[in-house]
Amino acid sequence: MSQVSEMNKMANKRLSLAKNPEAQKRGKFGDASRPNKQFYQMIEEYRETLEKVPMSLSDPVKPHRICVCVRKRPLNKKELAKKEIDVVTIPGNGALLLHEPKQKVDLTKYLENQTFHFDYSFDEDATNDLVYRFTAKPLVKTIFEGGMATCFAYGQTGSGKTHTMGGDFSGKSQNSSKGIYALAAQDVFTLLRQKRYADMDLCPYVTFFEIYNGKVFDLLNKKAKLRVLEDEKQQVNVVGLQEVPVSSVDDVIKMIERGSACRTSGQTFANASSSRSHAVLQVILRRRNFLHGKFSLVDLAGNERGTDVSSNDRHTIVETAEINRSLLALKECIRSLGQNSEHIPFRMSKLTQVLRDSFIGENSRTCMIAMISPGMNSCEYTLNTLRYSVLPAFEAISQVSEMEERFYEELKVCSFLCFLRFV
Ligand SMILES: Nc1ncnc2c1ncn2[C@@H]1O[C@H](COP(=O)(O)OP(=O)(O)OP(=O)(O)O)[C@@H](O)[C@H]1O
Ligand SMILES: [Mg+2]
Repeated sequence: MSQVSEMNKMANKRLSLAKNPEAQKRGKFGDASRPNKQFYQMIEEYRETLEKVPMSLSDPVKPHRICVCVRKRPLNKKELAKKEIDVVTIPGNGALLLHEPKQKVDLTKYLENQTFHFDYSFDEDATNDLVYRFTAKPLVKTIFEGGMATCFAYGQTGSGKTHTMGGDFSGKSQNSSKGIYALAAQDVFTLLRQKRYADMDLCPYVTFFEIYNGKVFDLLNKKAKLRVLEDEKQQVNVVGLQEVPVSSVDDVIKMIERGSACRTSGQTFANASSSRSHAVLQVILRRRNFLHGKFSLVDLAGNERGTDVSSNDRHTIVETAEINRSLLALKECIRSLGQNSEHIPFRMSKLTQVLRDSFIGENSRTCMIAMISPGMNSCEYTLNTLRYSVLPAFEAISQVSEMEERFYEELKVCSFLCFLRFV
């Protein structure tokens, strides 16, 4: 990403201009009443020096065993009304810039501009279609080839996980046909019709459940509480989970709508309808009744601190603690996997227990999408999500040997772990 660092140098030069009081008076970037106007101006000046290369549908998709991406959402109505400033820039090529507002002891304001690298970075204009194309879509083939695929959406409350996985919101209602869940289902049906798979006798099913307070509830069966049991072959079974046969995308969309409507929600400082559970939609392929492949699409509950939820009663505290505990368990499992450890602590949480087979299969692939809220008030969260993701090794790697590739994958796992470090 040398192009970005060159741009950074240029931008830093221009930054000193921003400290010029004359330039500030001119108020090139308008609005004298804006809180943090000076920071706003510095960021805008910085942005002017950057050449943005937004992702497009025609960009090539690179194959990854573990893919880590980031998506920045636009400022929302509430943030815009408060004239909150946007401190995140996505220049393209997998990079993300965080312009962290800082103040010296003599009260001089300055920006700490930090660059982070991912496999792909999506800016505020990216649609779910675009995000899907580079994240979950490449994993669909895996389940036709007898493998397991998992796609996680993670990030702070209100950052856009449910929007990405479940579909765009227009007001309170969600367009379920526009989320990664439905887009993945669409591709499953497209592949089922292709000649090379049409003769394989594959039958598609859907399950949809949530994990709330360490318990599993079936979102397709009146929220029935389910038991998770392990058989003698250490195969984890969610006893009684409805596997609904589906024959079209519309069938799947109906299931998504049915399940989403009964998912547990609450309120946080950043999201009036915050998901308080982890939701897992699985598209399963069976061949003559035997499991052939499984795609788990996971919309995680937001990582947050106790103070972020609107009520501080015992129930909410337990709920928040449980969310964080299970995210911690996920972190531990991914760490162990990244280190090729013999012991993977799946039993630490229901979330990791039920996803066990998705992680351990030889032919398994994972995609993690970090969601970022761009406002200055979310800066601390954003930084925690990103801080350790600066992985210089990412830049150099394109065609690499198998060993290097493993190292690369482990680095990416580390970056994901560092996000989870926050919990
Ligand atoms: N990329 C986006 N473009 C437009 N609006 C978005 C985008 N991402 C999120 N939003 C909006 O932001 C709000 C919060 O998004 P969402 O509910 O998906 O957050 P979340 O990460 O699931 O939060 P929580 O962890 O609290 O469940 C929604 O109103 C959603 O429409
Ligand atoms: Mg949500």
